[in-house]
Amino acid sequence: MSTNKESWGTRVGLILAMAGNAVGLGNFLRFPVQAVQNGGGAFIIPYLVCFLLMGIPLLWIEWTMGRYGGRFNNHSTPFILDNMTRLRFWKYFGVFGIFTNIAVAAYYCYIESWTLSYVYHSLAQTFSGLSQSQVAQFFGDYVNIGFSTTGIPYEAVVFYILCLLLNTYILSRGLQGGVEKVAKIGVPMLLLFGAFLAFRGFTLGASGAPEGCEDCDSALGLNFLWEPQFTSLTDPKVWLAAAGQIFFTLSVGMGTIHCYASYVRPKDDIALNAMSAGWMNGFVEVVLGASIVIPIAVGYLGLDWVKENAGFAMAFQTMPYLFDQWGPLLSTLAGLFWFGLLFFAGITSSLAMGTPWMGFMEDEFNWGRNKAAWSFGGLVLLMGLPTVFFFNQGVFDEYDYWAGTVSLVIFALAESIIFSWRFGIDKAWNELTSGADIKVPLFFKPIIKYVTPLIILVVFLGALITPKNNDWSAALAGNWELDASSIIGKIQNKGVEVNREYFADEYQSEVAG
Ligand code: PHE
Ligand code: NA
Repeated sequence: MSTNKESWGTRVGLILAMAGNAVGLGNFLRFPVQAVQNGGGAFIIPYLVCFLLMGIPLLWIEWTMGRYGGRFNNHSTPFILDNMTRLRFWKYFGVFGIFTNIAVAAYYCYIESWTLSYVYHSLAQTFSGLSQSQVAQFFGDYVNIGFSTTGIPYEAVVFYILCLLLNTYILSRGLQGGVEKVAKIGVPMLLLFGAFLAFRGFTLGASGAPEGCEDCDSALGLNFLWEPQFTSLTDPKVWLAAAGQIFFTLSVGMGTIHCYASYVRPKDDIALNAMSAGWMNGFVEVVLGASIVIPIAVGYLGLDWVKENAGFAMAFQTMPYLFDQWGPLLSTLAGLFWFGLLFFAGITSSLAMGTPWMGFMEDEFNWGRNKAAWSFGGLVLLMGLPTVFFFNQGVFDEYDYWAGTVSLVIFALAESIIFSWRFGIDKAWNELTSGADIKVPLFFKPIIKYVTPLIILVVFLGALITPKNNDWSAALAGNWELDASSIIGKIQNKGVEVNREYFADEYQSEVAG
């Protein structure tokens, strides 16, 4: 019998924890890059459509499943899925969901640890007076472990371990004493820091434009991101990118929301809470996330430069240099705010990734909090070290692809089908609406039953068989060829690589012998 006695303190605490779970590095680092790479304003419409038809329904599905499982004192997907299906297979599938959390936490905490280090370096004014390429070089050295010129030997490893210790300690303090407390501080702080930086993004204009730069104006960046564009609406690539962003940013498909919701009392509202956390994430993403990195970078480096160089490393490679243009005081403050914001956004999400494992161990093996938290920290460290040491060899990207992209979609597809078709939409709808503080519009019932699983299925198939160069128009016109970046392409290439290496060894030894 479970001895899991965790619970949320207050409704505000719960909403902040759920918002903190959703609001993360994805809002500030992933969203702006996705938007730029998919045509700026052209990205926003698919993004909103996916949010309404897939995001909100998935939030409701996961909150409902979680509260339902909590009634049987289960707090992780293996046993929640078991409660809902009574089929053993789904129990094991739920375990796969828990491991997705550990794999995502492994690389997610790595970026989170950069933000800690960059807070330190901002305060220490390490970037003061450096050129743009020197600031970029600093980042290069940082992730190149061992060849570090950052002043601290093995700095990236040191901060990674520090970051994991922090996560582990907070998790060991439990839901109310750890996670909820951190969310109550972290979420307001990040909103405050974000507002300050977004204000700079709005007001910078062309005041920082270097001589001769014609497209250096932060307003150009904002317009580019927000002005709706209809031209690329027919491009499946943009739709798939938007759907992928919705998955990642809302934290769906991993069991973190189920876990948090499983500590809600059976008669408490979930319908409105889910919406509140979801909209809050959307606001932070589309308003704050879009108003910082891109407009500020456009203000100094120009829209063309940003379009060409957009990548999540920009936040570390470029921002400290741009802040430095604001004079010593403001630049230190901006560095502290920017990396502090990223840190709070990051930790309230990585803590969420720890809770399914904790819930599982506490429920089913009667582990105490400490043991559960430290084992999570240890597992993440084990899985994370390869991303730290082989960052430049693409290990990080592999984790992000398989754990942070593909797994979420597969998990969400399964749960959306289970929810409406195995558990049954009528029963599921009653669960969702019981205790609800809003009237959930009835048209969401057919959406949850048909539209949501269908969209997820399309997203999955799109990832499975992405056409060459992600060029869907050519592919749909009959020029079909599989891209190496599709799931199937990746699996095939892996095979080729392994073979090549194997035969290379054989060949070498044959030559040698
Ligand atoms: N939603 C978080 C972000 O935007 C990432 C996350 C994914 C957190 C899955 C928990 C679970 O950064
Ligand atoms: Na998010």
